[in-house]
Amino acid sequence: MIGAATLLLVILAIIFIVIFTGGYNVAATDRHNPVVAWALTTTMTHSVQSRASEIPVPAKFTPAMVAAGAGEYKAMCSRCHGGVGESRAEWAETIRPKPPALVSAARQWKAQEVFWLVKHGVKMTGMPAFGPTHNDATIWNIAAFVKALPDMSAEQYASYKADHDHHHDGEEHHGHGTEDHHHTPGDDAHEH
Ligand code: HEC
Repeated sequence: MIGAATLLLVILAIIFIVIFTGGYNVAATDRHNPVVAWALTTTMTHSVQSRASEIPVPAKFTPAMVAAGAGEYKAMCSRCHGGVGESRAEWAETIRPKPPALVSAARQWKAQEVFWLVKHGVKMTGMPAFGPTHNDATIWNIAAFVKALPDMSAEQYASYKADHDHHHDGEEHHGHGTEDHHHTPGDDAHEH
């Protein structure tokens, strides 16, 4: 019993020393310690799975939903997550954890889990929450598109246009230039 209490005290002391001395390197240029990385990823996976399991999924994802979701995806997600034949932005390479390439990662998440992730985001990772600014119908379109990504051809992916004009939930539409999306030179998917 004394042994267990001493061990607990030693563990607590180590945790406090790490927290207060700056012992853990938070630099994004440094990799996570594998134990920390495992704990964070496993916590995140189980947290999402348990919270998303009861969410009812639309009966089917129509091509119109996928196309609408594509517009949102290209405006708000591809710079971090890339696309079919499209790599993520250079600065997104240095986010820790690195935003996964959804073309492959989408397979490991159910549609309702993608919906939950997009709606709520993930704390301490850089994955934003889109629920506060987008309604559920828009988020289902995005989920439909993300789930279609693994089987999409590069041609089909390229054929979708970024929706830089999309309506935000409960917001008046102010036209071009008022939103935080900028057309990047060379980003020639848009024909206006
Ligand atoms: C600023 C960068 C950024 C943007 C923008 C962003 N994400 Fe993420 N996203 C991340 C990061 C970082 C993670 C990794 C979270 C983790 O590992 O816990 C992530 C994780 C995810 C995951 C879980 C994948 C996995 O295997 O971990 C999904 C699904 C996802 N994002 C979808 C989207 C969608 C859809 C959009 C657009 C509506 C979007 N994200 C916008 C950074 C971003």
